[in-house]
Amino acid sequence: MRTSNISSWCSGYLLWIPALLVTLVLLGAISRSSPNVFSRYGNKYQLSVGVPLKGNGNPPIFAYWICGTEGESERILRLLKAIYHPRNRYLLQLDSCSSDYDRGQLALSVQAEEVFRYFGNVYVVGKSFALNQMGSSALAATLHAAALHLKLSTDWDWFITLSASDYPLMNQDDLLHAFTLLPRNTNFIHFTNKTGWKEQTDRIVNDPNLYLQEVAPLLYAVEKRTMPDAFKIFGGSPWTILTRDFMEYCVKGWDNFPRKLLMYLSNVPYPLESYFHTIICSSSEFKNSVVNNDLRYILWDTSALGKAKVLNMSHYDQMLASRAAFARPFQTDDDPVLNKIDESVLNRTSKGLVPGEWCPGIGRSKSLENSTPDKEDLCPSWGNINHVTPGPRGVSLQEFLAKLAVEGRFTTGHCQEH
Ligand SMILES: *[C@@H]1O[C@H](CO)[C@@H](O)[C@H](O)[C@H]1NC(C)=O
Ligand SMILES: *[C@@H]1O[C@H](CO)[C@@H](O)[C@H](O)[C@H]1NC(C)=O
Ligand SMILES: *[C@@H]1O[C@H](CO)[C@@H](O)[C@H](O)[C@H]1NC(C)=O
Repeated sequence: MRTSNISSWCSGYLLWIPALLVTLVLLGAISRSSPNVFSRYGNKYQLSVGVPLKGNGNPPIFAYWICGTEGESERILRLLKAIYHPRNRYLLQLDSCSSDYDRGQLALSVQAEEVFRYFGNVYVVGKSFALNQMGSSALAATLHAAALHLKLSTDWDWFITLSASDYPLMNQDDLLHAFTLLPRNTNFIHFTNKTGWKEQTDRIVNDPNLYLQEVAPLLYAVEKRTMPDAFKIFGGSPWTILTRDFMEYCVKGWDNFPRKLLMYLSNVPYPLESYFHTIICSSSEFKNSVVNNDLRYILWDTSALGKAKVLNMSHYDQMLASRAAFARPFQTDDDPVLNKIDESVLNRTSKGLVPGEWCPGIGRSKSLENSTPDKEDLCPSWGNINHVTPGPRGVSLQEFLAKLAVEGRFTTGHCQEH
């Protein structure tokens, strides 16, 4: 099972961009108003609760990481708007194929929105790194994003990795609702049951993106090595939804195994496809916390190893019939199928946010859709961010997840060898 090469990660050989003036643009921290102030817009007497409540049946908090490459700022912003909810945390990152200017523009676009400034929950990584999805530089970037999220806020529950070519298949009210009653220690990792995938792990590769400033392809050694016998390797989809506890376990490394495995995988192709899988199956603490599902709609291309089919309108019905929360990869920012998802699933206007209990007044209304002015508040008046109102997709996902979580507790079949 291989990740698609489609556009989501850096792939070219572009010029090195000189060191940045800012290492980390943490826009979320700028001009953050104090919580519990009266909304400055719309209904003056509405109490805006800016800080999410936790526990007691309140919805969880997701920490999203969206990574993209040169020319993908617009896609990242569109995806951000499609998954925005004030409870969540968002970390946006452009790799070193993009320029300082691109990163600056992305940061300015975020800062320009009143709602992002008020809730202070969207961050842009100001420094660039070379990334190759096939190599250990992609695993390093994922762990880095988790480490930043751990440092930035203490309150999130799940870490969700996305790329600029992903799109949601449900709104955040639905997703937050579906996760509300789940045990907070449930990890979503899809394990492959295909035989033969392990053959890749005896290859020895070198990922020059770890030490070169320009993006470069992996180098393959002629020699092969024996499979490890100190631990067993497991693998599957590189797209995951992982708990805060598990990310701390991987990032902080008080147990030596995550660190050792990281070093071992630095010379393996596609380390993201086995790092979390192998750690979780090797840990008595986390082994029983797995739901064997990544909640992504991905059609792995069986004819070409390592590729997923690009999704388009012909996959729409199938995609929505799956109970996935996200789908990938889409070809471009303005693919008609994305507009169809906006229209029929998210109720999102072309430049707007997705309406939800926290901001009910927005959305597509037939008469206004074409007359929407370019510059408009994304959310003119917001309400309670601790309430979510699910639609049928949210209710159905909640039932599905509850079932999966119970099954996950009683089986560690995904950690059996294939
Ligand atoms: C692998 O799992 C899929 C469903 O997830 C199933 O259809 C298929 O039969 C399984 N294959 C093997 C070899 O177990
Ligand atoms: C959609 O994708 C399928 C295969 O994944 C392809 O056969 C078809 O031509 C594509 N349709 C469009 C409209 O691009
Ligand atoms: C979409 O949002 C608009 C404006 O808030 C609302 O009038 C409409 O009922 C919503 N449509 C759906 C299908 O929820």
